[in-house]
Amino acid sequence: MSIQIAPSILAADFANIQKEVEMLNASEADFIHVDIMDGVFVPNISFGFPVMEAIKKHAKKPLDVHLMIVNPDQYLEAFKKAGAEVISVHYEACNHLHRTLQYIKGLGCKAGVALNPHTSVELLEDIIEDIDLVCLMSVNPGFGGQKFIGNTYERVKRLKSIINRKGVSTMIEIDGGVNQVNAPLLKEAGADVLVAGSFVFSSENPLDTIKNLKSIS
Ligand code: DX5
Ligand code: ZN
Repeated sequence: MSIQIAPSILAADFANIQKEVEMLNASEADFIHVDIMDGVFVPNISFGFPVMEAIKKHAKKPLDVHLMIVNPDQYLEAFKKAGAEVISVHYEACNHLHRTLQYIKGLGCKAGVALNPHTSVELLEDIIEDIDLVCLMSVNPGFGGQKFIGNTYERVKRLKSIINRKGVSTMIEIDGGVNQVNAPLLKEAGADVLVAGSFVFSSENPLDTIKNLKSIS
């Protein structure tokens, strides 16, 4: 199966958000990745509901919402209302992850869990059946445009072997520093979805960049 691509809107030109979303609609992207940062869980603030609603208004692709926030439970319903189709919460931000995942599913969304680079993938062994997507961070969350952390390949392989052993269909998404060099290696290691922000939006032709990422072998 070909890899799925989720361009991160964080790297887009927010003064031209409609144009940027229309470009993604016309592209081969499978999702639009939406990064929500609260200035507490991560040392940066991105944007909130009014901007997300503006994105949703024009989007023809599903919104893959990555919550880099503390206490995500209290905002899940609002993110569903703002147009989320996939909601990922951070493992490190949830004391009752099982309950949070059931809550997300109860809203009719796909439930994702994001893992910081230092968090062992083996910690998901007992909950993997309940996870639709694992968002493996390949940078420390908080900023676009950072350097890819090399041990991610190893982490993808270990996570893939847990998924295979348990016989579940959880997808593996990689987030941070994805480019044309690491994309084929990530696919080979077992990744299903690649998030790409600056690599797509700072390229001369984002449509071609998405197409090329999508067609990696
Ligand atoms: C980082 C975000 C990423 C980021 C990816 O905190 O979660 O989704 O936007 O951007 P690039 O591809 O530029 O690393
Ligand atoms: Zn993200």
